[in-house]
This record gives sequence, C-alpha cells and structure tokens, in this order.
Amino acid sequence: MSISQLSLTDFRNLNSATLEFHPKINLITGGNASGKTSLLESIHVLCQACSFRTHQLKQCIAHGKPNFLLFGRFGGYKAGLSKSDAKLEIRINGEPIRKRSVLVSKTPVKIVNTDSFNLISGLPQERRKYLDWCLFHVEHQYTQHWVEFKHALRQRNRLLRSRQDLNLLDYWNEYLVGPSLAINNYRKRYVHLISAQLAGQLPRLLEEVQITLDYVQGWPEQQDLNQCLQDSRANDIKSGFTGYGIHRDNLKILADGLPAAQVLSRGQLKRLCLAMIVSVLKIVREKSSKPIILLIDDLRSELDEKSQQNIYRQLMDIDLQLFISNIEDQVPAPLQEKEFKMIHVEHGIIKTRKIN
Ligand SMILES: Nc1ncnc2c1ncn2[C@@H]1O[C@H](COP(=O)(O)OP(=O)(O)O)[C@@H](O)[C@H]1O
Ligand SMILES: [Mg+2]
Repeated sequence: MSISQLSLTDFRNLNSATLEFHPKINLITGGNASGKTSLLESIHVLCQACSFRTHQLKQCIAHGKPNFLLFGRFGGYKAGLSKSDAKLEIRINGEPIRKRSVLVSKTPVKIVNTDSFNLISGLPQERRKYLDWCLFHVEHQYTQHWVEFKHALRQRNRLLRSRQDLNLLDYWNEYLVGPSLAINNYRKRYVHLISAQLAGQLPRLLEEVQITLDYVQGWPEQQDLNQCLQDSRANDIKSGFTGYGIHRDNLKILADGLPAAQVLSRGQLKRLCLAMIVSVLKIVREKSSKPIILLIDDLRSELDEKSQQNIYRQLMDIDLQLFISNIEDQVPAPLQEKEFKMIHVEHGIIKTRKIN
C-alpha cells in the first residue's frame, strides 16, 4: 500500500479535503481547470517535496493564503509537509526532518504527462534524470556517491570560475573521480537492465522498429577520467567549468540505428517513452521493496485507444498504486474489470466514490 489517505489545505485551487485512496487504482475526473492536475501534483509534492509543474513550491500555495498543508498516511509511516512563502517543513511520523532525501527515498513516485516525452526528444539531462531516479531507489550507495560527486564538482567549478588557488584543481580531480566512476558503473549496468526490460515491452507497444539504448559516457571511452581532467585543465580554466565527467553522460536512444527523436513519429515517440517508463518501474518494483505511485495526467489526449489499452495492461502487471486523471465517464477497458475508486473534482472541491 502506498498512500491510503491524503489531507490537503490551500493547495492551488483545491479546497481543504481529506481523501481515502484505493490501494491500486484511483481515477480522477472533472472538467477543465477543475483541479485534477493539482491533485496529482499534491501527491507528488508530499512524496518528493517538489512539484512536476514548477521549481518554486510556493506557487502551489492557493492565491491569497499564507501556506499550504499536506498530510498523508502511507504504508508504515505518516508524512506531513507545509510550505509558506519562506519556509518548507517536512515531518515524518510527526518528527521534523531536515534532509529532503529522507522523504524522497520512501515512496518512489513517477509522473506521466505531456512533458514526459522529453525523455526521448529532450536534453541528455532528462535521460540522466531517468536513470538516476531508478538508481536512487534501488541502489543504497547511489545517493552517497551522488552527494560526493556534486560536492566535488561544485568546488572544482568554483575554483575554475575564481581562477584562484588553481593548484587545488588536482585535489578536486581526485575527489571527483571516485564517485564519478561508481556512478558511471551503475548507470552502465542499469542501461543493460533497462534494455532487457524494454525488449519485453516493445513487441506490444512499438513493434515496427528496432530500438537500442546506447550509453555514452561524458569523457572519451577508454580514457582514464583523472588523466582526462588533467589534460583538459587549460580548457576548463578558459570556460570556467568542468567539461568532462558523468554530468555530460548521455543515453542515446536509437531506432533502427538512427536517433529516435529524429526518425520516429510523435505517436511512436510517446509509445517508446511509455515503454521506457514501464521498464524502469518494473525494475524499481523488482529490486526494492518500496511501494510505487504512478501519476498519469491526461493520457487520453496523448495516445490512441489501442496504445492506451496496451499501456494499462502492462501497468496492471506491476504492483503499483495508480492515479489517472482526465477520464471523463469512460473507464479504460483493461481497468473496467478491476476494483477502483473514482475521485471527482469540481472547481477545487473533491468528492470520492468507490466503484465495483
Ligand atoms: N496557486 C494557485 N492558487 C489558486 N488557484 C490556482 C493556483 N495555481 C493554479 N490555480 C488554478 O487552479 C485551477 C486548476 O488547475 P489544474 O489542476 O491544472 O486543473 P485541471 O488539471 O483539472 O485542468 C486552474 O484554474 C488554475 O488557474
Ligand atoms: Mg490538468
């Protein structure tokens, strides 16, 4: 069980409400601008302390109100989050926590919406985020490597920009290399795992082309990273940032050997993107004991009926808690036989009813 109950106050246009959720399937209906995406967003914020719509959490505070409050019951813990203009407070089982990662690591949550398709056509950082999301939840050491890497990179870049104490560059190179190689190793391994999962998903979603994932590290293959950092010293000083490293990694996605973003139609890209998301959810579910929440915003406007049905069928095979918005009266065929909960939002007021 992921989230069984949510209480919210002054979150975007949503009135204060307490909702009980179904452990598997929750369908959110309602007209335009009623608050469906806001409800999905509130769940995301309570799990991750960040939104998928804005980098500024304060934008989620209902206009004219001083703060928003979220409280949720999850399997095994309770989480509370309040955000005012200046302050973010997170509590787990009533105790304040300072590190966001404590909250984030508890319940993996993923959103599928129009922006998800940037996974294929967007910048490399979208694909690094995709890999990292999986690794954060599955590999316990990953967060530590990540924190060390970020710290070393920040310090090295600061030196490069300041152009002072440049003799310290070698020192930071050493610090950078250890966690970078660990992260590089994990990412390579997981690209193989994801490729294997994807091979199982694609026959039902995108059988017409051959998809391959190609992990390209952010410095020349076969080269020692430390040596590479030393060799690029002059260039780095000139540009003021570190030019090589895992922050330049890319996951190339190829369709019949060509960049997928350039050769696939928009519909094909969407199907591929969803197959990639399903693959990563399967891996996280299999490798961690964590419950997973999947938020799907407006899939109907994105995919034809057959593809939607295929997606839902594949999702039904994974142990997930689903929140799906924008299904007016129609319930997707693969879900009709299942037990689910309907949540109706009207001008920010939420009503629930259990079906089946
Ligand atoms: N901070 C806020 N305070 C109050 N209303 C907001 C805030 N942010 C957005 N809204 C409004 O909330 C309404 C619901 O938005 P949204 O959840 O995106 O609707 P839906 O997904 O149902 O179309 C919109 O009218 C939007 O303008
Ligand atoms: Mg919406």
